[in-house]
Amino acid sequence: MKILFLTPEVAPWSKAGGLGDATAALAKALAALGHDIRIVTPLYGSVQSSSLLKVYRESLVVGVKPSDSCGVKIAADLNPKVYFLEHPKYYGAPEIYGDRVDAGARALFLTRAGLDLCLADGWIPDVVHAHDWTVALAPVLMNTVLRGTPLGQSASVLTIHNLQHQGLFGTECFDLLGLPEWLLSPDNLECLGGINLLKGGIFHATRLTTVSPTYAKEILSPEFGFGLDPVIRHRAADLEGILNGVDADDWNPARDTLIPARYQATDLTGKVLCKAELQRTCGLEKAPGTAMIGIVSRMWDQKGLDLTIEPLRARLRAAEIQLVVLGSGDPAVEAAFLSLAAEFPQRAFVRVGYDNQLAHRIEAASDFFLMPSRFEPCGLNQLYSMAYGTLPIVRNTGGLADTVDGWHQGDAKSTGIVFDHADSTGVQWALGQALRLYYQHENEFHAVRHRAMTRSFSWTTSALNYVRCYEEAIRQRRHAFAEPSTPTTSRPNLKVTAVKKKPAPPKSMKKKV
Ligand code: ADP
Ligand code: GLC
Repeated sequence: MKILFLTPEVAPWSKAGGLGDATAALAKALAALGHDIRIVTPLYGSVQSSSLLKVYRESLVVGVKPSDSCGVKIAADLNPKVYFLEHPKYYGAPEIYGDRVDAGARALFLTRAGLDLCLADGWIPDVVHAHDWTVALAPVLMNTVLRGTPLGQSASVLTIHNLQHQGLFGTECFDLLGLPEWLLSPDNLECLGGINLLKGGIFHATRLTTVSPTYAKEILSPEFGFGLDPVIRHRAADLEGILNGVDADDWNPARDTLIPARYQATDLTGKVLCKAELQRTCGLEKAPGTAMIGIVSRMWDQKGLDLTIEPLRARLRAAEIQLVVLGSGDPAVEAAFLSLAAEFPQRAFVRVGYDNQLAHRIEAASDFFLMPSRFEPCGLNQLYSMAYGTLPIVRNTGGLADTVDGWHQGDAKSTGIVFDHADSTGVQWALGQALRLYYQHENEFHAVRHRAMTRSFSWTTSALNYVRCYEEAIRQRRHAFAEPSTPTTSRPNLKVTAVKKKPAPPKSMKKKV
């Protein structure tokens, strides 16, 4: 199969969160299955080793209005091939998202340029796979202005990695793509007087996926729908949840060169060393027997970290835990964690910022990893934690619910701690469970840890599920061509009158990679 990935993030070149990890690892797994896969993404100013990239095209004419062009560079000798769009005005700065006036134009340029590169090369994908809001209009273009080109016959799959981020812009963005006016209606792209990129993609993609089966069900409801749940319910028959995985080349304690010592499920000596070393470098008490809780996270409302401050303070005061935190986001949450570090300098360490090596070291050193998300489409950190023998403490939602089995005394399948309520009482209960397991049921703790480390979350399994989804999308697209009145042009009037909640600030307000 020929598969085009359109994405604003691809690790290790650009990453603001799990999207970068997910696109890179899924593309790699698809390539390993023998598929011909190309990734198109921007050449941000922050892309490291950009000097190693080779010129692929001096100039690609991009069908936006007014006409524009970009250079294209390629990461040599890589499979899958990664094509970088070089447009200094849009992508020369380091940020992936950022609070910019041209945020909409940057997104739409990427979308159209990715498709134009295929047309210019005469490489016509069987499936265009768009990741998240930034490139969600690809299926709209393929159904309208590019319908008469070879790309008009390709199937499209849109993956919703996070419904909270939708891409709301003014109608000037609409003109940039030269889209027909009939699309500017409530049952297409229109939203609150402007356009909503994700909404357009949800209506127009041949198939939709999200990153866990539970999240695929949750987003059908107003509670998780961020105002788009009516649109998603309309496409429910074409939506499925496919779990993310762990890239064992990057996140594997037996081979990780970013941690001070390597280890595996059958010999955890290295993990003990990792804990001692992190205590040393973070200036914490040398306390091998104290439960260490790790957090690595964006600090926006999604992640629920505001709920953890008082429960953590109580456990720190009782000298029951050590805490190591890495992340950035909401200044109030950052400040609350910094105040814990100031209050308990021997027991709590907090680093505001982005640091991949420290993220690996926290995963390796900690006994528990705290992830109390209000919602979580999939989540990668709880998967990495399990691989590192660090028991995840998670809320029962989305991908967290699908990947972690909660501990109850004496059970034989648990891999972590799971709690239900998104409030500080829920977190308090979960910390209590974790510490009971750690301090009072040592044998069980070791058994749960062993089980977590040996549970497999392979990207190959995910890739096989995506291949099945692509095959279905191709079949549906052929069928739609045979019967030109496709569901995207004949559906009930679905007026989305309000987005439930203003999407949170873009993920990478703080500079990351
Ligand atoms: P999300 O994509 O919603 O942020 P995920 O759990 O899917 O959540 O993925 C988060 C990814 O970002 C993980 O690879 C995690 O290690 C990484 N990450 C998040 N914050 C930081 C940080 N401050 N420093 C280093 N890595 C981080
Ligand atoms: C989003 C989600 C996260 C998911 C990641 C990769 O950032 O918030 O849950 O793991 O995308 O799919």
